[in-house]
Order: sequence, then structure tokens, then C-alpha cells
Amino acid sequence: MAPSVDPVCQSNTMLLSSSLMISSCGDSESSLLARLSRSSWTCNPQISASLASQLQQDDVVEEIHAGWGVIHFRVNRTLLVQKVLEQSCKERHTFGMKSELFKGLKKGTTVVEFSSPNIAKKFHAGHLRSTIIGNFIANLKESLGNNVIRMNYLGDWGMQFGLLGAGFQRFGCPEKLKINPLQHLFDVYVQVNREAGTDEAVRQEGREFFRQLEQHEQQAIALWSQFREITVSEYQKVYKRLGVHFDVYSGESFHQKQAQEVVLRLQTKGLLKTTEKGTGVVDLSPSGDMSSYSTLLRSDETSLYITRDLAAAINRKEMYNFDEMIYVTDKSQETHFQQLFQILLAMGHLWAERCQHVPFGLVQGMNTRLGEVVFLDDVLDEARARMLRNMSQAKTTKEMDDPETTAEKVGISALIIQDFKGPLVSDYKFDWDRILQAQGDTGVFLQYTHARLCSLIRKHGDGVERNVDPSLLQDHRSISILRHLLRYDEVIYQSACDLQPKHLVNFLMTLRYIWMFRTHRDVSELFKTFSKYTPVKKTRRQQDIKTESNPHGPITGLSDV
Ligand code: ARG
Repeated sequence: MAPSVDPVCQSNTMLLSSSLMISSCGDSESSLLARLSRSSWTCNPQISASLASQLQQDDVVEEIHAGWGVIHFRVNRTLLVQKVLEQSCKERHTFGMKSELFKGLKKGTTVVEFSSPNIAKKFHAGHLRSTIIGNFIANLKESLGNNVIRMNYLGDWGMQFGLLGAGFQRFGCPEKLKINPLQHLFDVYVQVNREAGTDEAVRQEGREFFRQLEQHEQQAIALWSQFREITVSEYQKVYKRLGVHFDVYSGESFHQKQAQEVVLRLQTKGLLKTTEKGTGVVDLSPSGDMSSYSTLLRSDETSLYITRDLAAAINRKEMYNFDEMIYVTDKSQETHFQQLFQILLAMGHLWAERCQHVPFGLVQGMNTRLGEVVFLDDVLDEARARMLRNMSQAKTTKEMDDPETTAEKVGISALIIQDFKGPLVSDYKFDWDRILQAQGDTGVFLQYTHARLCSLIRKHGDGVERNVDPSLLQDHRSISILRHLLRYDEVIYQSACDLQPKHLVNFLMTLRYIWMFRTHRDVSELFKTFSKYTPVKKTRRQQDIKTESNPHGPITGLSDV
């Protein structure tokens, strides 16, 4: 490095050198791939020329030249093609995952608590969001080498179960409970709440039933257990449709006893104060003036949502000794989780530092033709029915063996992709027509692309066994695709850091666009060159071209190319 270079320039050179790993000796496979993925580096316009002159070309970076505030690199394209194909074919499931980027990430046991619906209540759009976001986070953590515990924490305790039990004793029907349990429990719950609004006797019955539950009286517990079991098995069917599973079904009911112990511990530590109204509260204000506090105990000594959450967190730490715990709920519960973590820390549970709440925004307008969404099943049925109709109306949809299954898969993907596109914390307006569009940034569009690629692989193999001639993929678009693929590790790394799926979804959308927006001129030029090459490669590329014949035309169904 020239001694005359000023310090800013010097540190920039070092930064650049390390970011590009310009000193090529001892390159590991992943750092080599990282270098191949770079095409430029932006810097202060005044120093780009000076920096560029100090960088040396090598086997990986063949050419370096400075522009205004940017340094361009021309990487060895043959090497790029070779390496990406080698990696993506031979290590398909771990592609990008061996990157140096991940070395700094800690691995361990991660509890991901998600979905967590309430028995007998509506499964609203928020629960759907929690289910798919939590599943994404659990999958991500697992693929990064963590031991993941997927937990569903059911809302299965509280005063409302007193009313539900009392309601069932009044107008419940065991037959209906067998045929359509979620609907029947919901109907009973709605009816009993309506009546309790005007009838003190019903309210009294509800309180009495809940007292029996808290006292563990056999008959009440037997009925409540039946509600719970039926609900879990119904939910499991729907989770299966979504490709989601849980290792543990826990719930608020599990922790009512432990909640009392937590209260005692807080009292012993002098953290619980009794208010004039007789409630038990923890002062959370920094100055101890009760300007912010959390209520943990009602005046009748029963526990609250947060008391049970405190007990549940402590219990999970004891059971799983997790390294981190992630809660996925809508953002209206942000304060609840802040307070939860704060109280745990005040109790001396320093591991609460490694507990995290992932909040998400509200979804407006998720209705089905039956009206407001009540059950998850309804949403998935609606997605399938609408997708099926779109497919049947599309002129180019080929006949399928099982259109229902295809419509279900594509419809669900559409729901998920719509949800994952933006920052999780943003609210959005739900619009069936928009999310099920065959074009644009939709799940339908991605599934279509995926189906086409699978079809190519089915017909021509995945290239693992073939010797690929790298000179066939030197055109601008191919290089763009290959270079984009090399960014996969960065994308996963970003998602690993902020737990947002948008990075991955946008990566896939961009990949699709680079592939799709190949111009007709590009295509015809490519076509001329194919004839020179071996049949396998020729056929592969021809498949690509055939599908590019109308790149902006309607994409319909999931027909094979
Ligand atoms: N059942 C709750 C609801 O529907 C969500 C539970 C969230 N998890 C927790 N540990 N508090 O709002």
C-alpha cells in the first residue's frame, strides 16, 4: 500500500480488501463464493480511483476499474459458473448455509412459541399470522443448526371457561360437539355470553363453574378436558394443511398452580404490592412511584394472563434450558411482553435477556364469503375455492390430476407470501383478488416458477451427474442469476438477525424477475448459440426460451412447461 495514501483512504482500502478478501491466499470455499458475488463497491468519489489502483487482480477478480464513487470488478465468470453450479447441485439443501457469515451466530436450544389460539373463541387473522410467521422462524432457526422446540400455548384457562362450561351445561349438544366441535363450542360461547349480559343467574353459574375448575372438581375438569382435546385435534388437522407442526401443546391451564408460586416468590422478594382495591401489582416505574405497573393478582386472588405467562416462562426454562425464547404475537401485546421480561429480570432470571417478542401488524378485511373469519379452516377453504376458480378460468391451464390439491397448495402459498412481503410490524389490508393474482409479487407467481423449474429437472435431471460447460452460461442474464444466487447466504443472514421473512421473499421475487425479463433479443441470440452445444444443454435452454415467448402474458395454473 502506498505510504502517501491518507488515513481515510487507507482504512477504506483495508475495509475493501477484507470485504472482497482480495488477498486470495487460503480462500475457503465460502469466502471464494462471497468474492464472486461482488460486482462493485461504492465509496467516496474522491478516493475511488486511488483505491482502485491499489487493488490487485487475481484469479477471482480479473479486472478492476474505478468509476465516479464506485469501483467495478469483473469476476472470473467461468469460475463463477462452475462454483455456483457445483454448490447448488451437490449441496442443494445446504446451499449458502456454510457461509462464513453464520460462524458468529450462536447455536443452541430455541423455544418458538406461536399460533396460540384460544379455545372456543375466534381464530382471527392474527392467529394465522402468528402461525405462519412462527413457523418461518422455527424453520429458519432449525436450518441454522439450532435445536428448536415449537410450542403452541393455548388460551385454555380463565373466567371465560367458567361461562363456556356453564353454557354447555345449559344448551350444549354432545352430538354437535362430535360433528363440528369448533363451531359448536363457538356457538355455545357466543350464546352464553349474550345471555350473561342480561342474566345474573347465568353469570353466577359461570363463576361457579370456574370455581369448580380451579378446585379441580372432577366433573368440571372432565368437560373442560374434552373441550381442549377436541379443539387440539381439530387444529392439528388445519395445521397439517399449512404444513405446520408443534412439538408441544402447552396452555395457560398448565400454569395456574405455578402462577401462585410465582406470586409467593414475588411477595418474598418484596416485589408485589397490594393496592387499596386489594389487587397485587408489581411497580415497573424506574423511580418507584407506580407510574407504571403490572397487575398480577385480582382481589379474589385469582391469577391473570401475565401471571400465568411468568410461570410458563420459568417452567420452560426449567424444562428445556433454552438458550433463547421467541414469542410471536400481534403488536397489541408488545407492552405485555416488555412487562413480562422486566418482571422476570427483576426476579433475578437473567435469561429473560434472551427472550424476545416478535410483533406483527394487524390485517384488516380478511373475510370469507360466509362473512367474518371465524376459523382458520374457513380461510384456507376460501383460498382453495378462489384459486380453483381462477385456474378453471385461465385459458392455458393444462388438465391436472388433482386440481383441488394444487389449488390448495397455491392458495396457501399466496396467503403466506402476501404476509411475508413487507416488514412484519406493518398493518395491511387483505384483498383476495390481489393476493391470488397470477402475476406480480404473489405466491401464485412464485409457485408457478417453482413448478416450471421442477418440471425442467424432472425432464432433464438436476445436472448433478453432468459435466457442465461453463462457457454456455456467460451471457449477462445467466451471470446476473448466478450472482444473485450467491447472495442467498446474506439474505438468510439478514433474516436470522432480524427474524423478518421479507428478505427471503424479496430475494426469490428478484430471482424470478431476473429470469423473466430476459429480452427477446437476448433470447434469440441465445437460441442461435444453443445449436452448437450438446443435446442436454440445448434442450434445457430451449425449455427456457419456450417459456419466455410471452414473458408478460398471463401466467395460469401450474402447468408444466
Ligand atoms: N392466546 C393468546 C391470544 O390469542 C396469545 C398467547 C401468546 N403467548 C403468550 N405466551 N402470552 O391473544
